[in-house]
Amino acid sequence: MADKKVIAVLGSTGSQGGGLVRAILADPAGGFAARAVTRDVSKDKATALKSAGAEVVKADLDDVESLKKAFAGAHGVYAVTNFWEHFSGDKEKVQAKNIADAAKAAGVKHIVWSTLEDIRKFMKADDKRMPMLQTKYRVPHFDAKAEANASFGGLPTTFLVTSFYWDNLYMFGMAPKKGDDGKLAWTFPMGTAKMAGIAAEDIGKVAYGIFKAGNQYVGKTVGVMGEALTIEQMGQTISKVLGVGPVKYNAVEADAYRSFGFPGADELGNMFQAYRDFDKEMLANRSVDTARKLNPALQSFEQFVTKQKAAIKTAMGV
Ligand SMILES: NC(=O)c1ccc[n+]([C@@H]2O[C@H](COP(=O)([O-])OP(=O)(O)OC[C@H]3O[C@@H](n4cnc5c(N)ncnc54)[C@H](OP(=O)(O)O)[C@@H]3O)[C@@H](O)[C@H]2O)c1
Repeated sequence: MADKKVIAVLGSTGSQGGGLVRAILADPAGGFAARAVTRDVSKDKATALKSAGAEVVKADLDDVESLKKAFAGAHGVYAVTNFWEHFSGDKEKVQAKNIADAAKAAGVKHIVWSTLEDIRKFMKADDKRMPMLQTKYRVPHFDAKAEANASFGGLPTTFLVTSFYWDNLYMFGMAPKKGDDGKLAWTFPMGTAKMAGIAAEDIGKVAYGIFKAGNQYVGKTVGVMGEALTIEQMGQTISKVLGVGPVKYNAVEADAYRSFGFPGADELGNMFQAYRDFDKEMLANRSVDTARKLNPALQSFEQFVTKQKAAIKTAMGV
């Protein structure tokens, strides 16, 4: 243990960080040890990580001193912020700066920062296709992460550009559901564009591959996806793997999606519109081959649906 390189993992009780902790623990001969960071060391997900062999420590992204302590002696830091806890792009930027400041103070040798692209760069400031949100962002959880890249400037950082989690099907209420006619349907403003998606667990495995590669990816941007698919294609796979009837795709306009009124509808409307209107750029920023090189167990959408069959069926009510 003492001679292992410690990776302090933020978001360890969540999807991305959890995947990384599990990847480190699954490779005891890999030369790395997992230090899982959480605000609540007594919660079930934290004690499960401890039982599985991780060191578990307490820190808060809003408290830079707690992060410095959590990073002390660590070789690496996996840095991820959680927009969906507070829905504020500005807060994400402050939390990312706290991480960078603490990693610098602790002398960390490698940071993997989970980021996304700045959607504002794809269109002019006066473009009316998509509303500005929080006064200055097109897609706050993308744009703010991209702006936060600057906080890691000068530090040994890999900028990991992630993709839409397919797990949103069962974790975020995005699975197809039965309508009044008893037929399965789902609604997105994606037209016929392909969206870059990935199994959330694979992001952590990719991050582990980046740490294992040593200096190779320091200072680099690495964009990853499991597969790029249209909504129609995803519906066909769900229907095939689950053995359920066809999934009807209601392709709506982004304005309609934004007006649905659930928390984050405007944010997600803008995000899907970005994946649709700037599909070439978004797909060019992500690579299946790179993801597979870093994580040979990378799942396709069909493999993902097969693995998560029970959870997806429950979410679909079938
Ligand atoms: N959903 C998607 O399709 C998707 C795709 C790409 C990127 N993302 C990005 O992924 C990020 C979220 O990552 P995730 O999905 O892995 O998270 P998650 O599963 O929702 O879990 C959130 C994690 O963040 C930690 N956390 C939140 N606030 C914290 C704070 N103040 N101090 C310390 N830890 C804190 C939580 O730890 P404790 O509660 O244990 O303290 C928990 O481990 C978001 O910013 C989102 O934009 C999402």
